[in-house]
Amino acid sequence: MTEGADIERAVAALRAGQLVAFPTETVYGLGADARNPAAVRLVYELKGRPAGHPLIVHLATAAALGDWAASVPEAARQLAARFWPGPLTLILPRAAGVPDEVTGGQDSVGLRVPAHPLARRLLAAFGSGIAAPSANRYGRVSPTTAAHVREEFGTSVPVVLDGGPCRVGLESTIVSCLGEPLLLRPGGIAQSELEAVVGPIRRAARGEGPRAPGTTQAHYAPRTALVLLGGTDFDAAADAPGVAVLAQQPAPARFSGRLWVDAGLDAERYAHDLYANLRRLDDSGARTIVVEAVPPTSQWDAIRDRLTRAAAACPAEELA
Ligand code: TXA
Ligand code: MG
Repeated sequence: MTEGADIERAVAALRAGQLVAFPTETVYGLGADARNPAAVRLVYELKGRPAGHPLIVHLATAAALGDWAASVPEAARQLAARFWPGPLTLILPRAAGVPDEVTGGQDSVGLRVPAHPLARRLLAAFGSGIAAPSANRYGRVSPTTAAHVREEFGTSVPVVLDGGPCRVGLESTIVSCLGEPLLLRPGGIAQSELEAVVGPIRRAARGEGPRAPGTTQAHYAPRTALVLLGGTDFDAAADAPGVAVLAQQPAPARFSGRLWVDAGLDAERYAHDLYANLRRLDDSGARTIVVEAVPPTSQWDAIRDRLTRAAAACPAEELA
């Protein structure tokens, strides 16, 4: 089928209140018509996501902001102008008429203009907002290919648009612009890049700012127990038989585990591959996934955040 026909099918599904999985530059989203509360409820059902956790509304262009946000502070305007389309989500006061199902009943709404060409074509053809969380079951590893989405949901999502592997590989950076800009979730745009536009931004302390499930301590978890270790602790754990390892160096000759992945020293590349690597390690049959702690520098913030949450989520069953 041609891409145009795929988009038409996806738009028809959205108009009929059905779900559509689609690629963004960060991860794949599980989308519903953001103006249709029943369709949005389907997203929660399929993900197994607790009600009251807000979704991001994806828009074709920043020009649609006024339909979804009651007001747009100057800092938000500047961030949108600089980073959209791109991996940035802004939390803004919600406009009247945005369904409670989307906002989790809060007075704010999360908005993002994604950069992936297929997402942009879908949004332009649909002509309204698409509410979409990452297309994974609640608490699990986010999908970065269409095949990952099918592994998660089988045929229960009527349309899965395939846009290839996601360029960024980690979720968007979330900034609350309800007051002074507050970084809620590190992601595809680095804090330093944001600060170059609007000056110093504070990182939210745990539990601070509006409720955000992607920011709960345990999240993004494989099924296999995962430990995050540095230095000699890492060396010792990686030396155990039957483990699977995510490292930034090649395997030692004596490695006797199931799988060793050398994800390298380049943060962008590491992020791009991270979720696919976690899936491979999870599928390796190992008892434990041992992850080498990443560097303490800011370009690794979003990666460190996801790895820390994946480690905190063990045992993963608690979140399934
Ligand atoms: O890159 C991304 O952001 C991907 C792609 C699909 O766009 N989406 C994504 O969605 O990661 P999800 O649902 O997995 O995470 C969305 C995050 C959650 O932590 C949610 O709580 C937060 O956005 N969020 C959405 N609306 C919010 C609001 N009004 N206040 C606070 N947080 C909000
Ligand atoms: Mg998610």
